[in-house]
Amino acid sequence: MSLDTFIAGLPKAELHLHIEGSLEPELMFELARRNGVAIPYDSVEAVRAAYDFSNLQDFLDIYYAGAAVLLTRQDFEDLAFAYFQRAAADNVRHAEIFFDPQTHTDRGVPFGAVVEGLIAGMDRAKAELEVSSGLILSFLRHLTEEEAFATLEMARPWLHHFIGVGLDSSEMGHPPSKFQRVFAAARDLGLKLCAHAGEEGPPAYVHEALDLLKIDRMDHGNRSMEDEALIARLAAEQMTLTVCPLSNLKLCVVDDLRHHPVPEMLRRGLHVTLNSDDPAYFGGYVNENYRQLAEAVGLTREQIVQMARNSFEGSFLPNEAKAGYLAELDAYVR
Ligand code: HPA
Ligand code: ZN
Repeated sequence: MSLDTFIAGLPKAELHLHIEGSLEPELMFELARRNGVAIPYDSVEAVRAAYDFSNLQDFLDIYYAGAAVLLTRQDFEDLAFAYFQRAAADNVRHAEIFFDPQTHTDRGVPFGAVVEGLIAGMDRAKAELEVSSGLILSFLRHLTEEEAFATLEMARPWLHHFIGVGLDSSEMGHPPSKFQRVFAAARDLGLKLCAHAGEEGPPAYVHEALDLLKIDRMDHGNRSMEDEALIARLAAEQMTLTVCPLSNLKLCVVDDLRHHPVPEMLRRGLHVTLNSDDPAYFGGYVNENYRQLAEAVGLTREQIVQMARNSFEGSFLPNEAKAGYLAELDAYVR
């Protein structure tokens, strides 16, 4: 069996996926037409041609503009179900997906339309595709902590639908310390905590995410590799890192996939997982991330299995559900 075929059939979880980043240009056009929203492109090809980024902010500007076509509960259900169809095709058995409520509520879209649409898509994924999932409410770090608190307050009637909170958007100049109080409040509500850290930001931001936000899982974490003490700590704590190789390449976090830090992370004993981040924008869903990284750095089958195992272990599923998926993985590998 070729490595590509092995990856394709491998049961896996996806732990770092922004649902707004799974909006394919075809669906963007369909929703623009359905909702009468103008978009600054005249073809699907023109949209794809615009996806040429030199850093995170470059991407975010286009990503937030694209989200403007999402208006109704049905739009969010369609968006979510389209992602889960792609995920199921990659044998993703479980996905924990981020959404950015502020991107929508700040345009006047009701919080309930966003959440109820996403939940409907997730329920359909479970029933029709047998993919389980969880929803993570992500705060936009370029906005204030006060606005994050207002978002958490707005979320209250739907709190039982969320497994955790996250922190995303422009990293430089917006350190984790800015959100220390709202993360403490989320923890008191029983939510799990994730934060993007060390994607563009320095190792000091990773330290803050651990020490001040007290995160349960770290998104990206690449720049941790510049700090020996941090590497040792992440290994000792077995902190799950949700690494996104194609995102790193497209946003120039790495200059070449052959220089990606994953092999060194694995050698140092870090609990690494592979994920797609914003697959519609970065040119590949999760299997494509496994395949292209494996080809670029020469991953072994054992390393690939280890990262799939880590994806279930690092999920926020209850232990019995983790054990069920890990047994599925073991059966596949045997
Ligand atoms: N980094 C920060 N914010 C984001 C990202 C990312 O990779 N994707 C969507 N929002
Ligand atoms: Zn991300």
